[in-house]
Amino acid sequence: APATLYGLQVSQEPFGLVVCRRRGGRVLLNTTVAPLFFTDQFLQISTSLPSHFISGLGEHLTPLFLDTAWTRVTLWNRDMAPAPHVNLYGSHPFYLVMEDDGSAHGVFLLNSNAMDVLLQPSPALTWRTTGGILDFYIFLGPDPKSVVRQYLDVVGFPFMPPYWGLGFHLCRWGYSSTDITRQVVANMTAARFPLDVQWNDLDYADAKRDFTFNKKSFKDYPEMVRDFHSRGLRYIMIVDAGISSSGPPGTYKPYDEGLKRGVFIRNATGQPLIGKVWPGPTAFPDFTNPETHEWWHDMVKDFHEQVPFDGMWLDMNEPSNFVEGSQDGCPNNNLEHPPYVPGVFGGRLQAGTICASSQQYLSSHYNLHSLALLRVRGKRPFIISRSTFAGHGRYAGHWTGDVGSDWQQLYYSIPEVLLFNLFGVPLVGADICGFLGDTDEELCVRWTQLGAFYPFMRNHNDHAARSPFAFSPPAQAAMRNALRLRYSLLPFLYTLFHRAHSAGQTVARPLFLEFPTDPNTWAVDRQLLWGGGLLVTPVLEAGQTKVSGYFPAGTWYSLTGDSTIHSKGQWILLPAPLDTINVHVRAGHILPLQEPAFSTAQSRGKGMALVVALTLDGFARGELAPGGPGTSDAVLSLLLRASAHLDGVLLEAVTVLGVTSPPRRVLANGATVSDFSYRSDTQVLRVPVSLPMWEQFVISWS
Ligand SMILES: *[C@@H]1O[C@H](CO)[C@@H](O)[C@H](O)[C@H]1NC(C)=O
Ligand SMILES: *[C@@H]1O[C@H](CO)[C@@H](O)[C@H](O)[C@H]1NC(C)=O
Ligand SMILES: *[C@@H]1O[C@H](CO)[C@@H](O)[C@H](O)[C@H]1NC(C)=O
Repeated sequence: APATLYGLQVSQEPFGLVVCRRRGGRVLLNTTVAPLFFTDQFLQISTSLPSHFISGLGEHLTPLFLDTAWTRVTLWNRDMAPAPHVNLYGSHPFYLVMEDDGSAHGVFLLNSNAMDVLLQPSPALTWRTTGGILDFYIFLGPDPKSVVRQYLDVVGFPFMPPYWGLGFHLCRWGYSSTDITRQVVANMTAARFPLDVQWNDLDYADAKRDFTFNKKSFKDYPEMVRDFHSRGLRYIMIVDAGISSSGPPGTYKPYDEGLKRGVFIRNATGQPLIGKVWPGPTAFPDFTNPETHEWWHDMVKDFHEQVPFDGMWLDMNEPSNFVEGSQDGCPNNNLEHPPYVPGVFGGRLQAGTICASSQQYLSSHYNLHSLALLRVRGKRPFIISRSTFAGHGRYAGHWTGDVGSDWQQLYYSIPEVLLFNLFGVPLVGADICGFLGDTDEELCVRWTQLGAFYPFMRNHNDHAARSPFAFSPPAQAAMRNALRLRYSLLPFLYTLFHRAHSAGQTVARPLFLEFPTDPNTWAVDRQLLWGGGLLVTPVLEAGQTKVSGYFPAGTWYSLTGDSTIHSKGQWILLPAPLDTINVHVRAGHILPLQEPAFSTAQSRGKGMALVVALTLDGFARGELAPGGPGTSDAVLSLLLRASAHLDGVLLEAVTVLGVTSPPRRVLANGATVSDFSYRSDTQVLRVPVSLPMWEQFVISWS
């Protein structure tokens, strides 16, 4: 490049690289601090860090910023109920460091081998990987948003989910028949809960085998899915990575075909490696083989011809295995027992998965394990996967696995969701109310409130746990409020996804991305932003009716318009009764809203509204995907650029926050609006209108 932000020095003795910022000279990377090891199964390189504020290196149950006091972070995909200090389902060898002045840089090591990353108090970092090469990408920012975008330039911008995918999803392990699944939908409707997507866990399958359904309890399965479609609902079911291998030949096509086409991962004697998953003995598809993509596509297509599902939920794809290695154990060789074993849970690479030396089309499993087993191909409208690797967001979303139903896991879901946004996987959420163990009512209400702000919103839990309609009337009312709030904000959320897809931005955003020069924001991970304009401050502890949140300097309006915070950059204690989640709009932003309904199929045709949060000098700007920007200028007029795409949709209300002097006259496209209202205590102007969204309009007041 003709003009770089960095300077580079190569030192021969001791060997190493130094990367610094050209401006100011800050050293970002200095690998001369310790010797480089470069051997077949052990590669180690260390660097000093310019600060202790390091984030990334997922997937683990951690705060947003990691602890540099001798912390070992292990990357090796693993089926594991989320707990601190252990390797979880995905691997994202990317970190972001905040520098003292609010600049940021990022480093990505493109390497899929098992590895440890050691964080040290000097501060320093050591990469220690068990194979491959050292292929580093360094992103100079200089602001943290640019670091994320530069990283996504390398691994790919996120895919664009369908609008319905942003609605509410409901699932549980234990919806044991079509009858029960239909009852769940009927009970949700009767309880007046919105619902866009009904799911089934493995209950639907015949003997837990992929691409089959139980001809007794799910006898009318295709009809059930078609019935859901006729009510404007969508349907998703689980698909596991392991393919049942124990049926007699000729009884189970996915295995028979797979054998014939040679798609399975092989053991030392060249036969399909057999492990054990839900259906019993299973083989594992090798997605590094192009033929496997064809086979998988054919199986998905066959099944889709029987059951017209709308999306897929990929599970157990770390790959998870209930026996260690295989039914026949693993050979004794240097891939199974490398000279250095990273701190993987279980102490051995084969723990909870297949033999490291099993053979795949591209290489040994040892080198390929952490690459998500199920590579998505073709037109799949909505995919959620448990296992992930760098670049996953181009194809699919993620849910954070088998989280426990407790308050600590509720908190951890925020840094998880924020980190996956930094990793380019914005379509992410935790199982609302918790998956493992039964939830309690207060926890479930608070979790639904926070869950309304997960980019992917699904309530999913274990056998015998409760669905939303099984709680007390006040709890249900609070949950419905949270769901209505989400549905009303969907046009804004969809717009954020469009920005993520087209420009490499984040959807759920940590505060430090918007306010990098305010160090108080850096470690904030009990709040989250949607885009740059909406701040969510949930209650994360039992028995609380107040919550403290950090408000960066500026004006923040409560979304309801009943209070305003002029912050100097401070912590503020907010009232938070059980039926309320605190949501604030940042001055300078316009949010597009839509009247909520019981599904997006209904809500998409409803009237729209704009919330205009003015700065002190009367400015705000917003966007509605994929239309043009709307702006509000200093003379208090509002202009939304026309977009053909909004044909038939009417703008029905405009709420302007921060109107300092009482308007006497309000005009919409030149016509007097007589029934506007204004409150001088809250400085909120409400203007009812009926304007075509597909044409340009001007609303003004004086
Ligand atoms: C890099 O680290 C080495 C070893 O600690 C140190 O002597 C050297 O001054 C550092 N280089 C820069 C440019 O800071
Ligand atoms: C649906 O509601 C009915 C009536 O309250 C109840 O008997 C039934 O068990 C519920 N079904 C499910 C699956 O929760
Ligand atoms: C490989 O797997 C087959 C089953 O597909 C099994 O019979 C054979 O013993 C295995 N070989 C080894 C070395 O484990």
